[in-house]
Amino acid sequence: MDTGLSGKHVMVTGASGGIGLEVTQMLLVEGARVTGTYNHSSKSLDDIQKTWRDELNVLKMDQTSEDEVRALFEKANRAFGRVDVLIANAGIANHEGKAVQEMTLEQWERTIRVNLTGTFLCSKYFFANLEKFPEESASLILVGSTAGLFGEAWYVDYSTSKSAMHGMMMSLKNEIVHLAPKGRVNLVNPGWTMTPMAEKELTDNDMTRRILQTIPMRKTAVPEDIAGAILYLASDKLAGHVSGQTITVAGGMEGRVLFTSSEIDFLNE
Ligand SMILES: NC(=O)c1ccc[n+]([C@@H]2O[C@H](COP(=O)([O-])OP(=O)(O)OC[C@H]3O[C@@H](n4cnc5c(N)ncnc54)[C@H](OP(=O)(O)O)[C@@H]3O)[C@@H](O)[C@H]2O)c1
Repeated sequence: MDTGLSGKHVMVTGASGGIGLEVTQMLLVEGARVTGTYNHSSKSLDDIQKTWRDELNVLKMDQTSEDEVRALFEKANRAFGRVDVLIANAGIANHEGKAVQEMTLEQWERTIRVNLTGTFLCSKYFFANLEKFPEESASLILVGSTAGLFGEAWYVDYSTSKSAMHGMMMSLKNEIVHLAPKGRVNLVNPGWTMTPMAEKELTDNDMTRRILQTIPMRKTAVPEDIAGAILYLASDKLAGHVSGQTITVAGGMEGRVLFTSSEIDFLNE
């Protein structure tokens, strides 16, 4: 099937992570030229870069820094020209849950700064890029989370940062068309996915049991599941009339298990 992504310049933030790496590989197979970013280590991208020397440009970028995001787009333009598609995938999650009354302002601000402000900065320079290089089409794909849909006790910083992706999408879908008349903005909400971010939880049997109780398909995702939805939205051929939409890739997940059965034993008293 022709996705029409051949020759497109796609930027994937967080390309060194589990989901970003899979999207990057799929895009390269489709013939796209990819700018893939990392923050701490590019190690996971090294082998792919050897195979796709001319098609993959790996760049370091910390999305909490406006200077670094601005410089990223300048370097990306020099390598492959206008950025046609931005997959705003980079993000962090804390592994140690904290009740809101115990969460430090520092933790709250750190998560919001990376996940929300960082996505704002990448979107800002992507739109500036579209203004600089006017063309018909463009696509922004934001990456949220089921935590933004159902909430997540002890992780209010993360769930808040991810639910904000909806508001960002709804505003930016109406702005992008002023820069690229066929421009689109969509959101992918992954559920639990086996990547370095979720490895600790998904290798814990008790945690996995709680997770699977909320998912009709009784399985968690692999990065290919999420990357497939992102690839679909990136493609003008497949999703050219789709904008302002959310695809939740979570096996039909519904809500959360809030209490273990022993915690509601009072019903038998
Ligand atoms: N895995 C899940 O279960 C799950 C569920 C729902 C939503 N998501 C979302 O899916 C996206 C990808 O997650 P993943 O599971 O692939 O996580 P991951 O494997 O931990 O990858 C995260 C990526 O983000 C980059 N990153 C972190 N901080 C950054 C910063 N300050 N500036 C720029 N880049 C930064 C990391 O770069 P370095 O590794 O170089 O630091 C890495 O490439 C995230 O937005 C995440 O919230 C994941």
